[in-house]
Amino acid sequence: MSSHTPARTQVAVVGAGPAGLMLTHLLAQAGIDSVALDTRTRTEIEQTHRAGILEQDSVDLLVDTGVSDRVHRDGYRHDGIELAFGGGSHRIDFQGLVGASTQLYPQTDVFIDLADARERDGGDVRFGVSDVSVGDLESDAPFVRFTDADGAQHELRADFLVGADGSRSLCRREVPEDSRRQYFREYPFAWFGILTEAPPSAPELIYSHSEHGFALISQRTETLQRMYFQCDPSEDPQAWSDDRIWSELQTRVGANGYTLQEGPITSRSVLPFRSFVQEPMHHGRLVLAGDAAHTVPPTGAKGLNLALADVRVLAEELERAVAAGGLAPLADYSRRALERVWKAQHFSYWMTTMLHTLPDATPFDVRRQEGELAAVTSSVAGSTFLAEAYTGWPRRA
Ligand code: PHB
Repeated sequence: MSSHTPARTQVAVVGAGPAGLMLTHLLAQAGIDSVALDTRTRTEIEQTHRAGILEQDSVDLLVDTGVSDRVHRDGYRHDGIELAFGGGSHRIDFQGLVGASTQLYPQTDVFIDLADARERDGGDVRFGVSDVSVGDLESDAPFVRFTDADGAQHELRADFLVGADGSRSLCRREVPEDSRRQYFREYPFAWFGILTEAPPSAPELIYSHSEHGFALISQRTETLQRMYFQCDPSEDPQAWSDDRIWSELQTRVGANGYTLQEGPITSRSVLPFRSFVQEPMHHGRLVLAGDAAHTVPPTGAKGLNLALADVRVLAEELERAVAAGGLAPLADYSRRALERVWKAQHFSYWMTTMLHTLPDATPFDVRRQEGELAAVTSSVAGSTFLAEAYTGWPRRA
């Protein structure tokens, strides 16, 4: 006899980050009940630093579904970015080119807003669980087993199981090898990311390319800034003094005419670069969403936006599946989501390879890259392609 306490729900969601929580929020609004669980505590998730740029559609999703009005109050609207290279800087004017903007609003805040909304609405979200396992994916009642934060064991049977459990997804691995394809790309560099207590150095984000390597000057608030510079993936962030970090950043943006406002560095970490997709995004009654199904390198900040775009489509298709009782909507979800995923894979790869210094680049490669940056910034067509992708491709009805 198992000591697991059996229970039943319509949709069990493994992973209560932004993707898992937004999905359960949308399902609740459609009258579908769910349970979401996460091995991390709420505090652990709140303390994870991630990207900070929301596409217009992502902002609308938060506002339209009643998750947040804080995104307008505490976020900052950005109507463009600076692409700095060749000793100068070139603005990509999102509003002028595609009539759209992005919102600077950190992923951590999106998570807090969603966790608050689920709590307010009485959603069943269990943080800090352990021993998670899933199974019977091809049956009518797949299960997730877990030990809750108080040590009690549970078995939850569901009509559908969702793996929204991040880039080290456990659910993803449950799909048999002959039922999935995996696509990978590694990059020979990483980002050294810092938070610093300083005023902004520029009104908008600066993506800076130079022979010294790539740097991205982002922001958080009037008094807190987020910055990154390209580094070796094996770099130890603790081995760097504040002075050395500032000197590296100043050299990189100085090459293009910028000077940064410095302050105390309050956080530092190295972020690996990977592109990954698992296809299809469903198997039996299991579906994957967000980082569990795909990872993009951070250049262009597509990760969270893609996850939110996934669950918007997934909520629609799960609603159909619940109403009709069949599995065809899960295949439709996978097909619809992957269309956007591969566009975002291309965009993230393109921004990454256009802007970073490649360790084995020949002199030809370096000059070609400068030609590419000039082609994009000097052409309305080139800039429009970038602006449309950066602000998020319009959704199809
Ligand atoms: C960030 O603010 O963390 C950020 C912004 C833009 C990116 C990546 C990260 O492309």
